[in-house]
Amino acid sequence: MPPTSSTKPSPVKLYDFHPPVEDFRSAVLRGLSKPEKTISPQFLYDKRGSELFDAICQLPEYYLTRTEMAILRANAEDIAAALDHRALVELGSGSSQKIRILLNAAPQVQTYVAVDISRQHLQEACAALMADVEGLEAIAVCADYTQPLPIATIPELRDRPTIGFFPGSSIGNLEPAEVIAFLKTVAVLGDLIVGVDLKKSASLLEPAYDDAQGISAAFALNVLVRINRELGADFDLTQFEYRACYNEVAGRIEMAIASLSDQTVRLGDAEIPFKAGETLRTEHSYKYTIDEFQLLAMEAGFKPVQVWTDAEQLFSLHHLKQI
Ligand code: AVJ
Repeated sequence: MPPTSSTKPSPVKLYDFHPPVEDFRSAVLRGLSKPEKTISPQFLYDKRGSELFDAICQLPEYYLTRTEMAILRANAEDIAAALDHRALVELGSGSSQKIRILLNAAPQVQTYVAVDISRQHLQEACAALMADVEGLEAIAVCADYTQPLPIATIPELRDRPTIGFFPGSSIGNLEPAEVIAFLKTVAVLGDLIVGVDLKKSASLLEPAYDDAQGISAAFALNVLVRINRELGADFDLTQFEYRACYNEVAGRIEMAIASLSDQTVRLGDAEIPFKAGETLRTEHSYKYTIDEFQLLAMEAGFKPVQVWTDAEQLFSLHHLKQI
């Protein structure tokens, strides 16, 4: 190979706050011991889970990603102006596709910090971004963004104005009361740009979370594969089924894995009983009206200054300022 080709090691700086496997084990055991079994959505994103989520984002039924990208494209100049010269911190950066649209419209932004739980995905995404965006420093932070960000320990951000970018309606995974607490926590980042999925009919929402190809089902069920592999459990994948329903009263999609029979699953020394039809909740995905979300933001001490949306009002992007 000629010496000019880039076979250099990745130049991406990584700050790793990834929780240890022991935390995964105790969180899973705690969730499976509750009367209503749950697993926290952050555990869905191992390497395979992140790949499956990327595939979800491409599904014809999953309108969220392409609609948010279209909103970003249509308003890139406006949003770029809101970013100013600040360092841009993205929470739950995944494969860092959306940020490309903003970075291309905002050449004044020189520092991008990607925070994500999926370490390998994160590093690859930052490396690709640095190769593609001239003059950009991309920094990878492997962390659970729902926990207070150890921002002070990241030298590149010390004493610098920052702005937070939280796209994708990831905020929908939180309960409304948790949204307020979360927004207060991420207020250390300064202003925020937040993507929020809007309320709409169940006939549009449910297929987005239970698609014809079964990718959404594979994404949820993959967490059982991960628990089997990493924690030595024996979930029998033929005895569980994925379900997604819109609870209109609560304004949320409820995603769960249902047991198809009375069965007992072993996880190390623990035995976890499942009744036929019993569910293990993997996610809530809350939907808001623009007014509902702005009210939550105000309760958290932010001032909603601008909201961008698409013509069909499927999705919204909010610029929240610190009061
Ligand atoms: C990453 C939380 C935004 O709720 O739309 C998509 C997760 N799960 N399909 C969403 C998800 C199954 C997604 N968020």
